[in-house]
Amino acid sequence: MKSTVTLMKTLIMAAMLMGTTALVAVAADAPKSALTSNDCVKCHTNPPADIAANGGAHKTAVSCQDCHAGHRPMVKNNVPLCSQCHSDKPHYKLANCQRCHNNPHTPKIIKLANNITEECVSCHSPQIVQLKQNPSKHTKLACSFCHNIHGKIPLCTQCHKPHGNEMGSADCKRCHKAHMPTVVTYASDTANKMCAPCHAKASELHSKTATKHKAVACVTCHKDKHKMVPTCQSCHGAPHPASMLARFTKCGECHSIAHDLNRWDSAAKPAAAPAAPAKKAVKKK
Ligand code: HEC
Ligand code: HEC
Ligand code: HEC
Ligand code: HEC
Ligand code: HEC
Ligand code: HEC
Ligand code: HEC
Ligand code: HEC
Ligand code: HEC
Ligand code: HEC
Ligand code: HEC
Ligand code: HEC
Repeated sequence: MKSTVTLMKTLIMAAMLMGTTALVAVAADAPKSALTSNDCVKCHTNPPADIAANGGAHKTAVSCQDCHAGHRPMVKNNVPLCSQCHSDKPHYKLANCQRCHNNPHTPKIIKLANNITEECVSCHSPQIVQLKQNPSKHTKLACSFCHNIHGKIPLCTQCHKPHGNEMGSADCKRCHKAHMPTVVTYASDTANKMCAPCHAKASELHSKTATKHKAVACVTCHKDKHKMVPTCQSCHGAPHPASMLARFTKCGECHSIAHDLNRWDSAAKPAAAPAAPAKKAVKKK
């Protein structure tokens, strides 16, 4: 990059010298003073103000005249192409730079339309891999549909309602990852109340049971991944003589259900699969 820029500066200097020579040739008695970058502000207000406020490297690494070589009427076109100085990365091969870098005088202020994906991938690759390897409705969305400002991370609750009242926007990532939202996993400190909105019956039984399972968290048994169901033996080994277990092969034949052991009335029967959560309307942004 440096060498490209140095070369550019040399070329620009040369062009300007030629411009000045032409000026002298056309009007022999014109004043000798040439236009400098300090003069521009006398006639142009916005570019100098934009550069002063948010010029970034276009303020510190280049001057007005490094980009604008010469001036009308002597030089017809003094507007540079980005490719004059930026050419050595895949990103610099994109079409129409000013689609995102709208104002060259504020190069780091980037405006994104809501349909951009390919261009993001030239700098961020893991996300597209996750999205494609775990197909979900998010895979069909453009990156900038969610990241509408570069670098901004949206809240899930911008577009979705929480499953229940006890859940806030900070809780979503406990179970979901944005780029693979249907793969539900959770850590061992996830509170029972996070499961309750969708599993009313299991939660009700478990919260009221008089057995020692009351003190065991949902996620201690249903470990790490949603829909994982443990065997009793994974925690209890072989609690009874083998001869007995040979006759009664299922622990539940004597102990009923894990959520309320030894409870035999109909309330303890496993719940029918919970109704798939009602599809929440996606809020418009
Ligand atoms: C004396 C007033 C004056 C000064 C000083 C001046 N400009 Fe201009 N500039 C103009 C005017 C007037 C136009 C519009 C010319 C036209 O449309 O034909 C213009 C147009 C431009 C354009 C647009 C060219 C285009 O093709 O659209 C650029 C870029 C520009 N100036 C840059 C500069 C820079 C950089 C400086 C300082 C080095 C500068 N100007 C100094 C008066 C000035
Ligand atoms: C990194 C290169 C770069 C630098 C540095 C730069 N410009 Fe520009 N400038 C451009 C480009 C590219 C355009 C054309 C923008 C467009 O087509 O929308 C432009 C457009 C302009 C225009 C015409 C359109 C307008 O916004 O009024 C003026 C005037 C101008 N620049 C003045 C300046 C001045 C004065 C400075 C220094 C304070 C400066 N520029 C610094 C690249 C640069
Ligand atoms: C005259 C040379 C020149 C031109 C023309 C030019 N740039 Fe730059 N630009 C630089 C230099 C030098 C840097 C600092 C080194 C780097 O980041 O590559 C820079 C940095 C940038 C940066 C990073 C800014 C920062 O603060 O880190 C962006 C974005 C950028 N340019 C976009 C553009 C776009 C878009 C255009 C065309 C509209 C353009 N540039 C035209 C020379 C130029
Ligand atoms: C789809 C939007 C988009 C387009 C089109 C685009 N850029 Fe960028 N550009 C970005 C984003 C986003 C960044 C990252 C900004 C950051 O680092 O915060 C960036 C960063 C840069 C940088 C900073 C240095 C770097 O490489 O990381 C330069 C220079 C740059 N772009 C130049 C260009 C040029 C030249 C073009 C056209 C050939 C272009 N950009 C087209 C979005 C875009
Ligand atoms: C020219 C390279 C470039 C392009 C193009 C680019 N980014 Fe970035 N992006 C960066 C850099 C550099 C950072 C800041 C460093 C970091 O956190 O990785 C960043 C940061 C981010 C962040 C914040 C990361 C965090 O950990 O907080 C998000 C989100 C993001 N970009 C999304 C996008 C999206 C969406 C697009 C396409 C619209 C895009 N980027 C295009 C270079 C780029
Ligand atoms: C449905 C909205 C959505 C879409 C679509 C989306 N993201 Fe994200 N992205 C997020 C959220 C939310 C986060 C915060 C991390 C999380 O919750 O998993 C994030 C995090 C990121 C980060 C920070 C690092 C990381 O991986 O956590 C980057 C970079 C990023 N996204 C880039 C992209 C790119 C590139 C695309 C397109 C290929 C994309 N995102 C598509 C919502 C989205
Ligand atoms: C900018 C809006 C937006 C953001 C932010 C967003 N989503 Fe989505 N999400 C959508 C849209 C649109 C759909 C598809 C809805 C449909 O078609 O019914 C969707 C679908 C989903 C689905 C169903 C996926 C499937 O394939 O069935 C889940 C789960 C989901 N989102 C979770 C999340 C989580 C968790 C977050 C935060 C990490 C999040 N979303 C952030 C817009 C968003
Ligand atoms: C305790 C884990 C957990 C937490 C916390 C959680 N979810 Fe979910 N979410 C799930 C499970 C499990 C499903 C899938 C149910 C199924 O298989 O149908 C789901 C499905 C979804 C869906 C798709 C179905 C629907 O309701 O439209 C969306 C959208 C969603 N979650 C958004 C969120 C948001 C937003 C948050 C944070 C406010 C959040 N989730 C917090 C476990 C969780
Ligand atoms: C967004 C609603 C939602 C949340 C939150 C949720 N689940 Fe589920 N869960 C479901 C749905 C829907 C099913 C039924 C899926 C089916 O029948 O295929 C289910 C099924 C299950 C199953 C039964 C699997 C089987 O094979 O019978 C277990 C165990 C389970 N969930 C445990 C949990 C635990 C533990 C939590 C809290 C960490 C939780 N769920 C949070 C919606 C949810
Ligand atoms: C994740 C581990 C785990 C799983 C899986 C598990 N348990 Fe337990 N169980 C425990 C713990 C911990 C206790 C309390 C032990 C103590 O305090 O002495 C317990 C206690 C018990 C007790 C004694 C209850 C009481 O109140 O005295 C019985 C009976 C029992 N479990 C049966 C089962 C059966 C049957 C299953 C399968 C349906 C099962 N357990 C699955 C961890 C587990
Ligand atoms: C001690 C371990 C243990 C605890 C604690 C536990 N479960 Fe279970 N769960 C099981 C076992 C084992 C099964 C399979 C049925 C059986 O054998 O009892 C099951 C079945 C389920 C099912 C499917 C059958 C049904 O009843 O709908 C769901 C849903 C479920 N559990 C959710 C939960 C939730 C939510 C919690 C916390 C409120 C929880 N579980 C606490 C061990 C446990
Ligand atoms: C034939 C009936 C029967 C079967 C089948 C059965 N149990 Fe039991 N289990 C009992 C009885 C009776 C007790 C003693 C109950 C009490 O003290 O309240 C008991 C007690 C227990 C205890 C508590 C032991 C203690 O020290 O407090 C555990 C744990 C247990 N059983 C686990 C299991 C597991 C795991 C299975 C399946 C592999 C199983 N049981 C199968 C009848 C059975």
